Amino acid sequence: MLVVENDTPKGEPLENEKNATIENNNGRVNVTVYDKGVFAMKRSEVNAVIKQFEALLDQYKFRIPPYLSFTPEEWAEKGHEWDEIRDNALGWDITDYGEGDFEHKGLALITLRNGNVKDPKYTKVYAEKIMMSMPGQVSPMHFHWNKMEDIIVRGGGTAVFHLYNADPETEEKLDTPVLVCRDGRRYYVPAGEPIELNEGESLTFYPYTYHEYYIKEDSVPTLVGEVSMCNDDNTDNRFYAPLGRFPKIEEDEPAYRLLCNEYPAAKED
Ligand SMILES: [Fe+2]
Repeated sequence: MLVVENDTPKGEPLENEKNATIENNNGRVNVTVYDKGVFAMKRSEVNAVIKQFEALLDQYKFRIPPYLSFTPEEWAEKGHEWDEIRDNALGWDITDYGEGDFEHKGLALITLRNGNVKDPKYTKVYAEKIMMSMPGQVSPMHFHWNKMEDIIVRGGGTAVFHLYNADPETEEKLDTPVLVCRDGRRYYVPAGEPIELNEGESLTFYPYTYHEYYIKEDSVPTLVGEVSMCNDDNTDNRFYAPLGRFPKIEEDEPAYRLLCNEYPAAKED
């Protein structure tokens, strides 16, 4: 439950940032609210999520490339040979969708590989991501206009999915049976019917299929994989309810890792 305690309720325009209080399972937390009620994540929270994610990857022995351990100081020294990472926004990506409630609506992911829909220099036609989802944390309802993707429970708990067909004209959710493509098995379920996925299982989502998932409350932190077409998350995510993509960050401590939209320009020789 989100409670803004100052005199400007969430969603109303603010002239400038203001302090507010939100309430979540950890008690009351002070946050900063920006114009139009967008919440900031504290850098300390981003750092803590990344460290937790690293520990979960370690637990399941999912190894990641060395650049994901570069410090901000090391990134400042990197030249053009690392352009593919900067240009294609590979790497750490932590967001609360601007809603200030990461624990319940948030995403911690690493884009491990991707092409670039805007730059023909990069011809990779596929992408891979690894995500950390916590029990009770929702990855909110959206579809993709172009991207086809597989979402895979790599290790951990049980993920619950809800699927809807999207009306191609209005982009509203339809109350029509949805095709489930589940590791080679194809069948239909009523719109929105919960589909539970356990370790090793995956679903395929075609464009214009709304999908959302959460990890069961009584479950454990879970590694969720994505294998997809090359994609641009900035332009190909159609959220059912409008959401922010990258959080504003309040710098209350130094960054432990840079996020994929924070790399400095390449150092010139
Ligand atoms: Fe998706």
